[in-house]
Amino acid sequence: MILNDLFLSLGLLTLATPSFALPHNTGPKDHGEGGFIKFQNFIAGVTDATYDKWAHTAVQNSTAFQEMRSHILTMYDGIGEVTHSFIYDNEYGDCVDVNKQPSLRLQGIDHIAPTPLDSTCSEKGKGGQGPQVQSVDSPLKLDLKDSFGNVVFCRNLTIPFARLTLEKLTSFRTLGHFFSKGNDTEPAIGDFEEDEDGGHSSRRELTKRGDEPHLYAVAGQYTKNFGGNSWLNLWNPVGDFSLSQQWYVGGSGDDLQTVEGGWVVYPNKFKTKNAVLFIFYTADNYKKKKCWNLDCAAFVQTSKNWFLGRGFTHYSASGGGQWGFEMQWKLVGGNWWLYLKGPGAYEAVGYYPTKLYGTGQLSKYAEKLEYGGEVTRDAGHAWPQMGSSALPSTGFGHAAYQHTIYYTLRDEPGGVGAWATLSPTVIGSTSCWNINVTQAAVGGSWGTHFYWGGPGGKTCN
Ligand SMILES: *[C@@H]1O[C@H](CO)[C@@H](O)[C@H](O)[C@H]1NC(C)=O
Ligand SMILES: *[C@@H]1O[C@H](CO)[C@@H](O)[C@H](O)[C@H]1NC(C)=O
Ligand SMILES: *[C@@H]1O[C@H](CO)[C@@H](O)[C@H](O)[C@H]1NC(C)=O
Ligand SMILES: *[C@@H]1O[C@H](CO)[C@@H](O)[C@H](O)[C@H]1NC(C)=O
Repeated sequence: MILNDLFLSLGLLTLATPSFALPHNTGPKDHGEGGFIKFQNFIAGVTDATYDKWAHTAVQNSTAFQEMRSHILTMYDGIGEVTHSFIYDNEYGDCVDVNKQPSLRLQGIDHIAPTPLDSTCSEKGKGGQGPQVQSVDSPLKLDLKDSFGNVVFCRNLTIPFARLTLEKLTSFRTLGHFFSKGNDTEPAIGDFEEDEDGGHSSRRELTKRGDEPHLYAVAGQYTKNFGGNSWLNLWNPVGDFSLSQQWYVGGSGDDLQTVEGGWVVYPNKFKTKNAVLFIFYTADNYKKKKCWNLDCAAFVQTSKNWFLGRGFTHYSASGGGQWGFEMQWKLVGGNWWLYLKGPGAYEAVGYYPTKLYGTGQLSKYAEKLEYGGEVTRDAGHAWPQMGSSALPSTGFGHAAYQHTIYYTLRDEPGGVGAWATLSPTVIGSTSCWNINVTQAAVGGSWGTHFYWGGPGGKTCN
């Protein structure tokens, strides 16, 4: 009964709210009528916005609404003029002056750190993609134009900034929910909690975290590291929240800290059913100090080429093309640098200053690496597909994978990494998803790698 009502009202809501509509219809006050919304008009809309116009959204109450509104205005206050904007995959990208980005101003950083010389390479040559695999390039490097004729790229000394709209923020109850992974604003109790034996943290008791538990198929290793690397096969699993990512983790309890990144399907947040490129961090076990991409003042982006929070031009197909990209995190010179690689060479994209982590573990180095998939769902919905939706046993061309998984041994530019030795962990039913790890010694040109994923379903936890 209650569930039926819920489905009904969700169905009606979907029709009535503009979540998946074209960006130029993205909600009251936030837009012009029909045309391309210039940055200045967008800001004016937020400045004038009042709760009564947004009361029909998910936002909890007027206090939560005002918190969202002032977050947007604080982030954009002082970024100066935006001379170029575009739309890609239903998302506005504003090209913001790299030296005026919110992460510098609001964290009191005077100068952007110099880009370190090189990423870390793998032990045996450069690792390899193997046959039949293609790397997606950033759409910002492909000379695209949007339907308004705007070029889809940012010029030198500007960075692509996914527009923080009220429409996006009010899809959540509070600002804290907007920053969270899923709908949990509670500490991720048990997410990486201490084992009684061995003193290592592990993922247990996940039902304590937020509305619905987060479930996983991951592979990890406890080892001192300064980041690591993997090539992530790219898919569009169906569901409320499903991702493929890397975690670099340190500390425990309330002091647990992470650097994370990969791709995620998360329609309520990103307003697309496509997997999008993302990064995430927490400095306090997912409580207050956390956020995605450039949503809060944290990550300093230095490259004009990569659009955080947006999708790609190609995704893999079962029995068809296998697409993906390579990601590396590297703690070097006091910053956690992100590198991304399409068909070309690795590019430094930007960094989380270690200052974000205070005196916590990730200000020094990480203690654990982890790679794989995480899902959660809205109450009453099926568990999402994970990876390609095929189980690992279906192998290449069907199951999703990450390969070329190695970690960085010290704080130095360049250097040679060490192949990871990964142990699998599945949380949830192994008929919903699973993971099959192959270590580097027998991993051929892929080095350490795994196949993972599965169909999800009604009963997975
Ligand atoms: C908004 O909701 C929060 C949390 O439930 C509550 O503490 C606060 O008092 C509410 N504010 C208003 C104005 O209703
Ligand atoms: C942008 O920067 C690159 C690299 O520094 C340089 O080669 C190029 O000429 C610049 N382009 C413009 C339009 O200034
Ligand atoms: C989170 O909460 C919002 C608003 O209550 C809801 O619409 C959304 O589907 C929820 N789920 C996720 C995974 O964000
Ligand atoms: C796991 O992967 C190995 C190596 O690719 C393969 O031989 C084995 O059959 C796989 N096991 C399962 C259960 O998929």
